[in-house]
Amino acid sequence: MAFPQTRLRRLRTNPLIRDMVTETILSVNDLIMPLFVCPGEKVKNPINSMPGNYQMSVDFLVEECGNLLENGIRAVLLFGIPEHKDEHGLVACEHNGIVQKAIRAIRQKYQNRLLVVADVCNCEYTTHGHCGTIVDGDVHNDLTLETLAKQSLSLAQAGADIIAPSDMMDGRVQKIRKTLDDNGFYNIPIMSYAAKYASGFYGPFREAAESAPKFGDRRSYQMNPANSDEAMREIELDIEEGADMVMVKPALSYLDVIYRAKTTFNIPIVAYNVSGEFSMVKAAAANGWIDEERIMMEIATSIKRAGADIIITYYAKDIAKVLNRK
Ligand code: PBG
Repeated sequence: MAFPQTRLRRLRTNPLIRDMVTETILSVNDLIMPLFVCPGEKVKNPINSMPGNYQMSVDFLVEECGNLLENGIRAVLLFGIPEHKDEHGLVACEHNGIVQKAIRAIRQKYQNRLLVVADVCNCEYTTHGHCGTIVDGDVHNDLTLETLAKQSLSLAQAGADIIAPSDMMDGRVQKIRKTLDDNGFYNIPIMSYAAKYASGFYGPFREAAESAPKFGDRRSYQMNPANSDEAMREIELDIEEGADMVMVKPALSYLDVIYRAKTTFNIPIVAYNVSGEFSMVKAAAANGWIDEERIMMEIATSIKRAGADIIITYYAKDIAKVLNRK
């Protein structure tokens, strides 16, 4: 049946009917807010390229978690800026490491009201800024698995609810799963950054986390932006190794990969709307070129429509505010 019997505009005539036929609905339950924790007290360093985001000491971080909870955000993703770095990133495995301290403080204040997702990677903790141990000028896969497993265990012991490896080493999900299980943490899920691309969109994050590589780039371990068959292999392997949720990262230039992942695998799909994607919107908004709130909601909706079940976004709190208004 075609025009004039069929008129698609009928279902767009007023807000009530438009709401009734809305297919994609954002929920605060699906949002994760990334936060950066640094040493010291009463520290709140603005991150230049990411307006509204800060490197925060534990006290301010805990306070910010309270703000997030008040707005209905129930999950945070923690990144640490350590006091010292070392060759292998072992500083990330210390009982009193910066993220470990943050997790314990959050846990003490909010008990189980807030899910704490701990990013696992070495790049913030190594002197050279690469995601693992360097041998002959490149990151050595199997040696790096050892530090990743150690870091994961230490974060679980500190009270992390979810372990999220972002390093892109082969076999790390299996190694981390086994280490967690061997130590009694069989109930801690792994959210793996399964299809993580070597992307220019991480630029602002590397300023925030002080984690830019001192030489070379990450192309020997992160994925080639041209590939999506390979992304399916990465995801499939991580699921086989025991991942409970799999991530596609970045989100916006990779909506096709999110869609493919969702239609191929029966597992929660996470999308990371990364720093560069956030900063571009902020910059355009600061120039008055776009309507920030509208674009923020449109982007989050598009990521969900593509198939993401969970969205990691620096706009989490702002999106929650809009959702709460409705
Ligand atoms: C660590 C890590 C990165 C991001 C999350 N975890 C940076 C990188 O791989 O260089 C990027 C997040 C963002 O850009 O918002 N490996």
